[in-house]
Amino acid sequence: MARLLTLLAVAAVASAECTREGLLAAANSYVAAITAGKLDGLKLSSTNFTYMENNKKADLAKSGVLAQPLKIDLTRSTADVISCASYTLIVSTSGTKPYILATQLRHPGDDTTTITLVDTIAATTGSLFFNAAKTLGHLKAQNWGPIPEAERPSRELLKKYGDAYLDMWTDKDAAGSIQWGADCERVEGSQFTKPCGVQLPRGGSTKPNGMRRYVIDETVGSVDILCSFDSIGNYPDSHEFRLEGGKVKYVHTVTV
Ligand SMILES: *[C@@H]1O[C@H](CO)[C@@H](O)[C@H](O)[C@H]1NC(C)=O
Repeated sequence: MARLLTLLAVAAVASAECTREGLLAAANSYVAAITAGKLDGLKLSSTNFTYMENNKKADLAKSGVLAQPLKIDLTRSTADVISCASYTLIVSTSGTKPYILATQLRHPGDDTTTITLVDTIAATTGSLFFNAAKTLGHLKAQNWGPIPEAERPSRELLKKYGDAYLDMWTDKDAAGSIQWGADCERVEGSQFTKPCGVQLPRGGSTKPNGMRRYVIDETVGSVDILCSFDSIGNYPDSHEFRLEGGKVKYVHTVTV
């Protein structure tokens, strides 16, 4: 009997898993809202909704990000069915204000039709190494397509490497714990570094990078971490990684 109940409980949990399709549909609704400069069409929870912009609670309706329609030059999204969250990158180079938005959406349990959190790092003119057109050029050349199933990195490895990367400023051994692909590249704001496993921080700061929020998508070998980049001074930040063949292929950062 106990065993049967356990099986039933497992089945209940399994059916409550949110789907990739649902997550990506919600992410698309956010892209549509940004494109239109309007909240309509975003299914925000009426009982538990929070908007975070650059690590601070804010009013989504009054956000400068939605103050005007944005022409979107590049967007891509990843989906984390375990955390029921998505990550969307948006690059807009040509409006009155250029933007690079790194946004995570979160949903309650299995219900991807309701959004409980829009959590965005919104970089614009004046942000660290900000040049949206230059960033666009670097990102357009990248391939974030699906990783063949047999070669996908595990969720654990993605989280481990993402965390190790953010720990490099406080832990002198962190950089050495990561395997770097030979043709790995870093796009930090608009700054481009290849290969990326050179000139890495080896400790030195006493302040760990905090407030880490994860979206992990094994299908494209990616982890995005929104955080407060405290090691060098309290910057709202997004660090996204892609692993190929178990090694770091891309690092993309958006820092305000
Ligand atoms: C409200 O939403 C947040 C973000 O998704 C979640 O972490 C939290 O548990 C929710 N709170 C309640 C009471 O459901």
